[in-house]
Amino acid sequence: MINHRRPILVLGATGRQGGSVAKALLKARWNVRALVRDPTQPASAALRQQGVELVRGSFDDAEAMAAAMRDVHGVFSVLPSNLSAEDEVRYGTSIADVAAESRIDHFIYSSGASVGNTLTGVARFDAKPCIEAHIRKLPLTATIVRPLIFMEMLLRPGFGLEQGRLMSLIRPDHSMQLIAVDDIGKIVAALFGDKPRFAGITIKIAGDRVTGHELETAFSDVAGHPITYARLPDAVLVANADLAHMAASLENGPLAELADLNLMRELNPELLSFRSWLASRDRKALDAAFGRNGEVDQPG
Ligand SMILES: NC(=O)c1ccc[n+]([C@@H]2O[C@H](COP(=O)([O-])OP(=O)(O)OC[C@H]3O[C@@H](n4cnc5c(N)ncnc54)[C@H](OP(=O)(O)O)[C@@H]3O)[C@@H](O)[C@H]2O)c1
Repeated sequence: MINHRRPILVLGATGRQGGSVAKALLKARWNVRALVRDPTQPASAALRQQGVELVRGSFDDAEAMAAAMRDVHGVFSVLPSNLSAEDEVRYGTSIADVAAESRIDHFIYSSGASVGNTLTGVARFDAKPCIEAHIRKLPLTATIVRPLIFMEMLLRPGFGLEQGRLMSLIRPDHSMQLIAVDDIGKIVAALFGDKPRFAGITIKIAGDRVTGHELETAFSDVAGHPITYARLPDAVLVANADLAHMAASLENGPLAELADLNLMRELNPELLSFRSWLASRDRKALDAAFGRNGEVDQPG
């Protein structure tokens, strides 16, 4: 195996996507550096224990970002979900600017699968396409990934599992693509491993394609009792602009445009189907999601 000497800087490494990327890069024998806000928090300490070099800093501190990018081969950039659209664009573009100034070899930005070719006019839906457009204009060798819906999202409380049903965004006979967070890291590590092939491209990434009916049987099998599937009622979608946007996008927008699962398997031979991902979940967490004893699983 190759031991890549210059490190890859992973942003958000204490979170879901960044954590998955850091783990997969370490496994692929890259040296990994992580920008963390608090090196003393348990998630940072766990990274250090796995061999990750920690650099303290924050997205709003360009000097710290530049220091973290010194002498790195690559940067994985992902931003948290809880930012205002303005901050998301400000951080996403300034991180890319610093990467370009630092003359790194390969920049990978994790965008979103609902990004289309046209802007919606709604700031929070347009933040990721604005960042993508900015990255494409920079003198920077970049790959943009657009992960489909995380499998982990389907175990979140509040979508009916605890009452024996699952409500989600597609009609029962329609399908959607999903990805396990662990597979995001493995795919990103494969992209870093083949810069000549993936430089300059934007790629949707996913692990499986499932219908509502298939979700129903997969969940019923693992729960050991019937779980019925239904699309979220129209009234719920009308009242929630974000869910309505995703449902429309799944029906005939960017979320209906599929990732190439054959390519995904080539990049990551361990790619998880929804059923295999579900089977790999901790039993206690599943029981909690199904409303049995214990704590409710937190996605991730
Ligand atoms: N496709 C889907 O189904 C789906 C689902 C959820 C999210 N997403 C997308 O995924 C992205 C979020 O990724 P994620 O779920 O991996 O995020 P996450 O688990 O919430 O992790 C966020 C990471 O960012 C770090 N961070 C937050 N603010 C920071 C700052 N000011 N400076 C430096 N680091 C900071 C956090 O560090 P600390 O430990 O210091 O907090 C953490 O490591 C968003 O773009 C969201 O739209 C997609």
